[in-house]
Amino acid sequence: MKEITIVPSILSANFLTLQQTLSKIEQTQVKWIHIDIMDGHFVPNLTFGPIIVKFLRYITNLFFDVHLMVTNPEQYWYELKQVGANVITFHNETNTNKKQLIDNIKSTTNIKVGLAISPETNIKQIIDLLPYLDIVLIMTVQPGFGGQVFLTSMISKIEQLRYIINKNKYQCLIEVDGGINKDTAILCINAGANILVSGNYIFSATNITDAIKSLVI
Ligand code: DX5
Ligand code: ZN
Repeated sequence: MKEITIVPSILSANFLTLQQTLSKIEQTQVKWIHIDIMDGHFVPNLTFGPIIVKFLRYITNLFFDVHLMVTNPEQYWYELKQVGANVITFHNETNTNKKQLIDNIKSTTNIKVGLAISPETNIKQIIDLLPYLDIVLIMTVQPGFGGQVFLTSMISKIEQLRYIINKNKYQCLIEVDGGINKDTAILCINAGANILVSGNYIFSATNITDAIKSLVI
């Protein structure tokens, strides 16, 4: 069986009891958590910035998969790295110089770089960047909110990207984010995804450990 990374998205967790939730997660097979940073401009929702990531780093050693839904990722990535981010993923739909930002992030040590694509973005638009990326994050809902319904039309995009990566022997992994539950997880795995982000499905479950387990069966 191929190795699948399950990544709970804390956007859907209760922030007042996050410490207990993270300890619970640490007792499962999960090694990563997904941290959504939204600026109310790139997406119509606001979350938090580096200061919260810094305090989260005090209470857990889990790998921090930071998803930047901000207009100016070049302005925030370094501080996020300094406070404990392990993956920095920014959006292709921003006006930033993508190759430059990828190079800047990769010029520092101990960090992975990801590029996220919203549903309307075609794989062709990022093809030249694939050799330089650790991760491509395919949004399987419109970015901005947890708890949305998975867009099944994204399956063919995952398949297309898997084909290109395999054909060219690129190192880059495929991450999916949005509407992942036990039914959609299997569709994404079969299409070629390696990393599954899941928020609402895990955190609205009565038993988060069982919900996590159900994603890899
Ligand atoms: C949405 C975020 C996701 C979100 C996924 O813009 O990027 O990470 O938390 O949540 P669910 O699994 O609830 O769709
Ligand atoms: Zn996300």
